[in-house]
Amino acid sequence: MKVLVTGGAGYIGSVAVERLIASGESVVVFDNLSQGHREAIHSDAELVRGDLAAAADIEAAFARHKPDAVMHFASNLLVGESMEKPFKYLGDNVSNGVNLLKCATAHGVERFILSSTANLFDEPETIPISESECIVPGSPYGESKYILERMLAWLERTHGLRYAALRYFNAAGATSERGEDHDPELHLIPLVLQVAQRKREHISIFGDDYDTPDGTCVRDYIHVSDLADAHILALHALSDGSRTYNLGNGQGFSVKEVIETSREITGHGIASKTTPRRPGDPAKLVADSSKIRAELGWEPKYPDLRQIIEMAWSWHSKHPNGYGS
Ligand SMILES: NC(=O)c1ccc[n+]([C@@H]2O[C@H](COP(=O)([O-])OP(=O)(O)OC[C@H]3O[C@@H](n4cnc5c(N)ncnc54)[C@H](O)[C@@H]3O)[C@@H](O)[C@H]2O)c1
Repeated sequence: MKVLVTGGAGYIGSVAVERLIASGESVVVFDNLSQGHREAIHSDAELVRGDLAAAADIEAAFARHKPDAVMHFASNLLVGESMEKPFKYLGDNVSNGVNLLKCATAHGVERFILSSTANLFDEPETIPISESECIVPGSPYGESKYILERMLAWLERTHGLRYAALRYFNAAGATSERGEDHDPELHLIPLVLQVAQRKREHISIFGDDYDTPDGTCVRDYIHVSDLADAHILALHALSDGSRTYNLGNGQGFSVKEVIETSREITGHGIASKTTPRRPGDPAKLVADSSKIRAELGWEPKYPDLRQIIEMAWSWHSKHPNGYGS
């Protein structure tokens, strides 16, 4: 199968490309390199440098490469920024998705996988959070993903497009060759490791008075490699119809647990400072991924926080300046 991967130079997309190539698929990466890194792209994948905002760029890529399937990772993805610049999300994320979907349907693509998000569940009634939980997007970012999910459901009816919407919780970890290098970096594990690398003086803990065992927020960290495996399984399962899955480890780890485990792994004291809660941070977000486990036989290979941080630390130690080194 030939798969066009938007955002294949980014963190999760580049690992999905690595996995696709390992499983024998042919890959075209479509990326404007605004956040991604050329060095992150597997050498067997072809890069089309283009922008999803430019319909002509996408049309040229589809006309030339004729993909059978699309994995859509490219997105603006900062929850906080989306509260300040809603149109970058409700506008650009949505219109970029429309440009891509117009082209995919016009070229007869039958399989489409969307990177969706746990930010669809701002007020979960039940934890762990299953697919039957009420959708309450927590930000314009989450809303933009939900709009794309709804669009896919309609395109299945109008065009027979088969889709998988994969709602990731917190992607983390690294493979031996690919890791997390965002600018700005806002994810907890790389920020904690930056303290161990002496790039940052301390890590901020936003509130330690939550209703959780140690008072700090609990999140579900899913290894990026396990996420990538879920994409491969979903890609093939689309032969049997569209599907939507919540994707996480099913285990929650607190901010303090992440910091403590990182101290043990790095041997660095990792200073922390507790500051007031951030508005809009729920106490606990953990996925119920039993549906994808039961239907696709997906099983995380790295469910352990220690392993996730060890692999991230190994990558950051080898790449102290990210892909820039
Ligand atoms: N990282 C997480 O924990 C997480 C959690 C839930 C969902 N997601 C979703 O997963 C996807 C990938 O996340 P990531 O962390 O790998 O992000 P990333 O920023 O590392 O990668 C995104 C890639 O898309 C490219 N891109 C952005 N806008 C583009 C455009 N207009 N045209 C072409 N290319 C463009 C960037 O250059 C980058 O290579 C996103 O859709 C995000 O919403 C991520």
